[in-house]
Amino acid sequence: MSSTSPTPLTARASGPISGRIRVPGDKSISHRALILGAMTVGESTISGLLEGEDVLNTAKAMGALGAKVERLGGGNWRIHGVGVAGFAQPAGPLDFGNSGTGCRLVIGAVAGCGITATFDGDASLRSRPMRRVLDPLEKMGARVISAAEGGRLPLTLQGAADPLPLEYESPVPSAQLKSAVLLAGLNAPGETIVIEAEATRDHTEKLLKHFGAKIVTKPHGEHGRRITLQGQPELEPAHVAVPADPSSAAFPLVAALIVAGSDLTLESVMLNPLRTGLFTTLREMGANIEELERRDEGEETANLRVRTSALKGVDVPAARAPSMIDEYLILAVAAAFAQGDTRMRGLKELRVKESDRLEATADMLRVNGVKVDVEGDDMIVHGMGATGVPGGGEVKTHMDHRIAMSALMMGLASISPVRIDDSAFIATSFPGFVETMRGLGAELS
Ligand code: S3P
Repeated sequence: MSSTSPTPLTARASGPISGRIRVPGDKSISHRALILGAMTVGESTISGLLEGEDVLNTAKAMGALGAKVERLGGGNWRIHGVGVAGFAQPAGPLDFGNSGTGCRLVIGAVAGCGITATFDGDASLRSRPMRRVLDPLEKMGARVISAAEGGRLPLTLQGAADPLPLEYESPVPSAQLKSAVLLAGLNAPGETIVIEAEATRDHTEKLLKHFGAKIVTKPHGEHGRRITLQGQPELEPAHVAVPADPSSAAFPLVAALIVAGSDLTLESVMLNPLRTGLFTTLREMGANIEELERRDEGEETANLRVRTSALKGVDVPAARAPSMIDEYLILAVAAAFAQGDTRMRGLKELRVKESDRLEATADMLRVNGVKVDVEGDDMIVHGMGATGVPGGGEVKTHMDHRIAMSALMMGLASISPVRIDDSAFIATSFPGFVETMRGLGAELS
């Protein structure tokens, strides 16, 4: 993200949020399609790629590592990959901007390659934990040459020319961590195994299979999985069609639920069950979300028709957290408009996102007149129901796109306007968000 002066923005009480849109491509799949395309010899193609800053930084990194990455226009991209372990020594540091996913996944990919690379990012990314990925990668033979305190960025990593396969029991429910180990394991002989106590998004596994790797997933315990990757596969070039991002769809979707008289259709939203915890929770709260034209496009998708709904508070179990980890901010907004309390359990991982999202969510609601309690890793939002959300606050966005979008959606239905201190970071994940929302009836200025 360029360090220009902040761009504040205000959301005001709006008429209905209505119309039909397709939100941009899924961020998780976009990063992975670029990385796996770069790790496959030959020409792979991608359609519907998210052209947000996070993903563009991953595309640049793949170019710096020797792949030929071409933007063809309209979300279509072509990559001439260099193969597993084929990365070239980059000429300078790889800058991932705001993106934890891009950075951690590429750290994994580089760890299984005999090159040295420096990873860096903006102030938000420099503050995020990297030790969690470095621990298993060091076991596989990668070496940290230098890093900031606690293994943070800027970080220089020497990859292992001959990485060792690893059986790794992940201590945190993190798809980024799982993916880093699997990408490093691509160049290890034999089986690399990741065991997760709670299943996290499985896009890396699905795409590895799509590119021809041998990878098997089995259930593990009550909520977990055991993933076995056969190392040193001959990856084959592939086409990846990126579906619409459910985490981006969440913002207009909740706006339509809370703004009176709304009727909104979101096209081709990905409904991978490891990503749909928010939709399950909103339905439990009484949301009217209709699934139309369910299809299988490599991932399941459907059009979602959403109409304004009277919401009630619910108890959200901790076990659901991995399937909606990026959605608690916007869920908290929905909960603020609901009748009764919503308790969200087990939110520890929210503290290490683009910002400390547990504190930031509580602050976002409190400055707008909503009562919130944080008890350990739980957050309780006391819904305003018929009284309405007062609004009138200025929300600090802490370089976090999802805080910015959530606060703006709150302002569309609150009594007084809601202002955010900076809208610039929205471009990391949802280019055109403000124009798209205005087109649906949102008062943003
Ligand atoms: C992502 C995994 C999640 C999520 C992030 C995207 C991914 O992070 O919050 O936005 O694409 O793997 P963690 O793996 O840290 O939970």
